[in-house]
This record gives sequence, C-alpha cells and structure tokens, in this order.
Amino acid sequence: MNKPKHIDPLVYFSQHENCLAIAAQTPIELDQFERPFYVYSKQRIKQKLVALRATMPASIQLHYAVKANPMADLVAWLSPHCDGLDVASGGELQNVLNLGIAGENISFAGPGKSLDELKLAIESDCTLNIESETELKRVIDLSQHLKKTAHVALRLNPDFELKSSGMQMAGGAKPFGVDAETALPILEKILASGLNFRGIQIYAGSQNLSANAINEAMTQTFALGAQLSQELGQPLPCFNVGGGFGVPYFAGQEELDLAAVGQHLHTLMQDYASVFAETDIILELGRYLVADAGVYLCKITDKKISRGETFLIANGGLHHSLAASGNFGQVIRKNYPVLIANKLQATDNSDLEKVTIVGPLCTPLDILAKHIILPKADIGDYVAVFQTGAYGYSASPKDFLGHPAAHEILL
Ligand SMILES: Cc1ncc(COP(=O)(O)O)c(C=O)c1O
Repeated sequence: MNKPKHIDPLVYFSQHENCLAIAAQTPIELDQFERPFYVYSKQRIKQKLVALRATMPASIQLHYAVKANPMADLVAWLSPHCDGLDVASGGELQNVLNLGIAGENISFAGPGKSLDELKLAIESDCTLNIESETELKRVIDLSQHLKKTAHVALRLNPDFELKSSGMQMAGGAKPFGVDAETALPILEKILASGLNFRGIQIYAGSQNLSANAINEAMTQTFALGAQLSQELGQPLPCFNVGGGFGVPYFAGQEELDLAAVGQHLHTLMQDYASVFAETDIILELGRYLVADAGVYLCKITDKKISRGETFLIANGGLHHSLAASGNFGQVIRKNYPVLIANKLQATDNSDLEKVTIVGPLCTPLDILAKHIILPKADIGDYVAVFQTGAYGYSASPKDFLGHPAAHEILL
C-alpha cells in the first residue's frame, strides 16, 4: 500500500539554491531578530482570492473572519480585497477599527458579548450578530440608552450539521445563535424594536474538505433563510451563509473541490433568485484565505540521540504554533507539512534521516514533527512548518514558560 502523501507546500512558494524563498527572500535573509518567526505570503492569499472570485457567483460577498489571523498588517492589506470583515470580540473589533476600517464593513459574532463590547459595536455602526434573546434585550436597552440605532442580524443554530467538519458549530444543542425553530418571534421582535435589521447568519462548521458536505449544508441553509424570509414577510437585507471551507493539513488530505462548491452556489443563487433579489449573500471565510499562506520558521539549537532516536531541538514550538504541535483540539496528533528550510532536498538517500523535531518547552507535548524523514539537519538550520497562517500565532500560549515571542512578517 502507498503511504498517504502530504500536500507539497513548495507548490505555493519558490526555492533558491535548495532553500525556501518567500517573495524571493530566504529564511536566512528574513531572520533579523534571532527568534522564531511567521511569514505570511500576500501572493498566496491573492491566489486564493482569485480562485474564490473565479468560482463563486459574482454577486456573493466575501468576508474575512479576522479570528483566523488577526495580524494588523495582514488585516489592513486584506480588507480592501474583501467585502467585509467578521470579528469575534471587542478586542478584534477595536483593532480593526484602529486600522481605519469603517464599522459598516464589520460584523461581530460570538456568545456572551459584554456590555462594553456591545457598546463599542453600537457606537461604531458594526453589525451585531445576536446570539440569544437576552443579548437582544441588552442591545435594545443599550441602543435606547445611547440614543443610537444598533445594526443587528440574528445568528441561527439550524437543526442540521455541516457533516465531516473539523469543528461542528451548528445542529443539536449549541451555545451559538438561537435555535432556528425559535427564530421567527425573535426576528419579529427585532423588527418591532426599531433596531436596524441586517438579516441572519448561519455558521454551521469549520475546516471542511468535502464539497458534498458543504453543498448539502448550503442547500439546507438557503432553504432555511428563504423560509424565514417568507414567514417574516420581508426580504433579508443580508444573509450570511457561513462557509467552513477547509485546507489540507495532513498526509492523505485533499484540497477542497472549490469548483464543485461554486457550481452548487450558482445553482442555489438561481433557484432562490426571487426570494433573495434584495439580499446580500455573504460567505464568511477565515482559514481558507490565509492558512496555506503562512510558514512558521524556527532554528535548530541542538541535536541529540536518545536510545536510537534522533531529536532536533528547535527554538520554536507549541508556544508559538499550538495547532501544528497537535494540541489545538486534535484527537490524534499528526504532522503538519515540515521541511528543513535551507536544505529542501537531499542529494541522495544517504543524506536523509528520520528525526523527531521538538521545541524548547519542557513538556512532551512540544512536538513539531514526529518520526519524519528529512535531509540531515544540523544546529543552525531552519525548520519550516507550513499551513500555519490560520489559528497559528494568535491561537498559541505565547507566555507559557516565558520563551521569547515570535515575530510576524507579511511579505
Ligand atoms: C462565526 C464564525 N465565522 C467564521 C469562522 C472561521 O472559520 P474558518 O477559519 O474555518 O473559515 C468561525 C470559526 O470558528 C466562526 O465561528
């Protein structure tokens, strides 16, 4: 049986004399701070945007979910290429506002928003995706108190799931949104309240590589949106249909068939053309845009053999890249695509060795690659961990054990 293969991350980047090059710069050239760093490639993000715009219906809006990668330079650069941004906290909202992005281009979802967060959202004119009836009441009260009309959409927890998702966010009992079967009176309350009704949001799941599963969930999503719009007796201004588009991380995983998803969305847009004639349909994507644009680079600081196993010890690890270490909700730990950045290819088989790459943290959880065959590496060489542009640095315990922070570069 053939061993399942990893995606080849070098397809997205270039090489220079057996060395990884991102925007024509090698890790050695980029390593100006003597500490681990992330590089995010604008070119790769652009390729994803171009592919999305070419395959999705032209009238669909693309929103970027800032939680995937909130690096300020990246958000500032990406924002004009998207039709809106979605934030998940008051902190993210403030950071995005600080970049000069107007509130009307931002929506804010997430359970348990604090009064301060709601206030900031109302004052900045961003759309609040309401997660519960009590939250709606707080927004109505606050809006009256501030004498400012809040813009609100209702987030729904539908009765279907986005099957085979890395993370299920809807269907069954969930803390996100209101159960779809209870939505109508809440929507009527929003209309009666005098708030500015912005429509509905359904976010069913994340990290999905199955076009069939996404298409099935989109069919149900559109049907639910149409049903509620009809029951409400008025068009939805916006309908955020979620996304969940995934990227391959592990050996054996395949790229999402974007064309199949786009084709299905074209059909749905046609089928529901009259119901949603006045509705902005929004796709909300995070990792699909940025995950494979990110490379985490760290340096080998030690090499040792323990009872026959070779360990490369790097100055970076789970404190900067929790997901790549396998500790961000994964049930079974698997290697992300990892290469020696300045020794991409071995000259021959005798130049290869099986190693385990670990970080500097004094815990057995700090693994960047286990039992991986790579060109023989030495102290001073660079380890590149690919597919780390989403839920990478910002989703890692930077303060754990007090090692130096990583650096982030947008190229
Ligand atoms: C409401 C919402 N929007 C967008 C996202 C982004 O998901 P992804 O990065 O997988 O596209 C998430 C992820 O949890 C989410 O909860």
